[in-house]
Amino acid sequence: MSSSQNHSNSSVARYFDTMDYGPAPESDTDARQWLARHAEGFGHFIGGRFTDVSAGAQFDTAEPATGQRLAGIAQGSAQDVDAAVAAARAAQPGWLALGGHGRARHLYALARMVQRHARLLAVVEALDNGKPIRETRDLDVPLVARHFYHHAGWAQLQEREFADQVPLGVVGQIIPWNFPLLMLAWKIAPALALGNTVVLKPAELTPLSALLFAELAAEAGLPPGVLNVVTGDGATGAALVAHEGVDKIAFTGSTDVGRLIREATAGSGKSLTLELGGKSPFIVFDDADIDAAVEGVVDAIWFNQGQVCCAGSRLLLQEGIAADFIERLKRRMQSLRVGSPLDKAIDMGSLIDPTQLERVRTLVATGVREGASCYQSPGALPPGGSFFPPTLLTNVHPASTVATEEIFGPVLVTMTFRTPDEAVALANNTRYGLAASVWSETIGLALGVAPQLLAGVVWVNATNLFDAGVGFGGYRESGYGREGGREGCYEYLKPRAWAERKPRTAAVALEAANEASKTQAKPSSGLPAIDRTAKLFVGGKQVRPDGELSHPVFAANGQRVGEVGTGNRKDIRNAVAAARSAASWSSATPHRRAQALYYLAENLAARANEFAARIASLTGVGASAAEAEVDASVSRLFAYGAWADKYEGTVHVPPLRGVALATVEAMGVVGVVCPDEAPLLSFVSLFAPLMAMGNRTVIVPSEKHPLVATDFYQVLETSDLPAGVINLVTGPTASLVQTLAEHDDVDALWVFGAKALSRNAERLSVGNLKRTLVDHGLATDWHDGASAEGALFLRHATQVKNIWIPYGE
Ligand code: NAI
Repeated sequence: MSSSQNHSNSSVARYFDTMDYGPAPESDTDARQWLARHAEGFGHFIGGRFTDVSAGAQFDTAEPATGQRLAGIAQGSAQDVDAAVAAARAAQPGWLALGGHGRARHLYALARMVQRHARLLAVVEALDNGKPIRETRDLDVPLVARHFYHHAGWAQLQEREFADQVPLGVVGQIIPWNFPLLMLAWKIAPALALGNTVVLKPAELTPLSALLFAELAAEAGLPPGVLNVVTGDGATGAALVAHEGVDKIAFTGSTDVGRLIREATAGSGKSLTLELGGKSPFIVFDDADIDAAVEGVVDAIWFNQGQVCCAGSRLLLQEGIAADFIERLKRRMQSLRVGSPLDKAIDMGSLIDPTQLERVRTLVATGVREGASCYQSPGALPPGGSFFPPTLLTNVHPASTVATEEIFGPVLVTMTFRTPDEAVALANNTRYGLAASVWSETIGLALGVAPQLLAGVVWVNATNLFDAGVGFGGYRESGYGREGGREGCYEYLKPRAWAERKPRTAAVALEAANEASKTQAKPSSGLPAIDRTAKLFVGGKQVRPDGELSHPVFAANGQRVGEVGTGNRKDIRNAVAAARSAASWSSATPHRRAQALYYLAENLAARANEFAARIASLTGVGASAAEAEVDASVSRLFAYGAWADKYEGTVHVPPLRGVALATVEAMGVVGVVCPDEAPLLSFVSLFAPLMAMGNRTVIVPSEKHPLVATDFYQVLETSDLPAGVINLVTGPTASLVQTLAEHDDVDALWVFGAKALSRNAERLSVGNLKRTLVDHGLATDWHDGASAEGALFLRHATQVKNIWIPYGE
């Protein structure tokens, strides 16, 4: 080698040794010009234009990276919300009347608009939020455009694919500050596509991209009133939630506020979806590609400064690789750069504000006090702003604060496990259930673990993958509902047949019929009045109620026909425990579940006369109506036997090399409260879809006609059903609803009956945020297949888990 070559090599080497990144700032000229055009501050965007800024109170939105003021923002009052809801209401019929194709063209125009203004949107978002321009430019904005394209497609197909559904009407949407523009898209694209109009409240810390979007959308021809933006803080959000003109609330944010919204909307009939917090596990098995997994961790927890609801914030390492993994991770952390959001070469920007910074600092200090060791990326932090370094906590106890609380910052905690079972137990040891990552080169292991994780999204050898066509949403306290994909569309629709339901007058009519039959005092059937006391049915056995109490049951003609056990809290708890321990039903094959339903149908048919006589006696309907109810019940059992192995998931093909398996999973343990009308058919119509999908149920039969359900014990006992799959507790409906709603081991609750029951079920279910399906006192025609059978019940009996499996080298 010549000396000159030697010289040049060493100088290149020196450059490599000393070379640091120079700043590579993105220009903010256009964004600043847009802000300058609104120098007097932003009004709300209502009915296609900005409201007068001088009209009400204002607050400032600031740049998290510098603390500098960006703009003045209007604080929305109840009157502003009212005006926005009125504008949305006025616009909705016209928007619906445009038809699917008309709306598809608008959604398509919005997607194009986002692409045309991609740079401006990306810069405004980075300025207002503090996140790196690299992420807003390469991830947020492209995903926003994709969301509008995808939902333009659903609008186009709506009349065919959702022919049995109608839009909800006016939708109130409340979004957080961590992905302001992306959450706007996730919310408004499906709502608008399917014929609803929207009042959106962005987070008070990041309102700018929503205001810019609304302004651009109006320029792109979106009709006035279709999208309205009201800015403000939690009080503005609460006014939107409380507004009687709103048909649905869709919320993303903290679990605490999600609970408040659940309580505030209870009994109102408003539809609700909640996308809440998480403490998602990132599980690495010892056969994983370690370097790829280390890179995965970087994306899982330091993407968006860790302010991500599905952040992989709990790193679970198999013991044998833990030390090596941590060492490699620390090495990788040394090269992470924290800096100005507009610098294209940084990895992490600023946290959202000083309050969040303080919260993260305090939680890390708590972690250290509770015994964790703390390692932080050594790079310098820029002055000013709310910067916090990438942080790793090791020696973390599974019960410690940092292992259980959502930190919502760039802080990773690690724990170890030995076996796959231990990994699953540790992963599920949280009240949340949003997402999970599984890393293993053994496909059988990864795909064996994925279904066991209680999370709405599972990424195999990947993390933080999103697509408009693949549903996103949580299990347990991570909220309910899905965003994206077909399942996300259903969140903005309601069944046409249900939209036409009327307040329950059946009960009144039934009373009148009963009175009439009493005066005639005719025996309503050939059934003799046998005085016997029906017990409860728990864990496959008939059991006496805990309180040793029973109460009389009367026939329609006023005759006392028997007694039933009066179940109490303890009985419900026993029934829930029995249902919980029947877990094998949820993993039984669909074929097995179908067989059980057909067998129930066969055994019910064998006793058809007995049941028809009982129905006639109890309810006072004529013999042929009673027979028809039994026939319909047999048919319904057959229907769900049929559905059991046909209501299945989908394979999505998102824009990456890989697939996402949308699997339908049972909710788990479900409480069911039955109405008085059509006591056999309603009972069967409610438990059969749950059973078909693998749920275990605790059922409170009709309070008035419980003997129809207690007669069913014999059908259950002769039908080879595992103990605990169906449990029945008779008794006072109101107090049993309360116990079921408050029970933290009940995953979902279906309540059909008086209006007040629905409200209580919703209000009292906030503890573990159980899913509720209630009728708000609106009567279902149980004989009508469109209202009382099929996919609409199956959807509520299941939750979709999307398992992402990228492939290729
Ligand atoms: P937050 O839940 O208070 O705010 C989210 C949105 O709800 C904002 O638009 C806010 O104005 C609105 N809001 C607040 N109170 C309301 C009420 N009573 N009724 C209706 N709307 C209301 O979240 P915040 O305070 O911004 O962050 C606190 C913590 O929440 C974070 O540290 C983080 O742990 C968590 N969080 C979780 C998010 C997620 O995506 N899962 C997003 C943002 C925050």
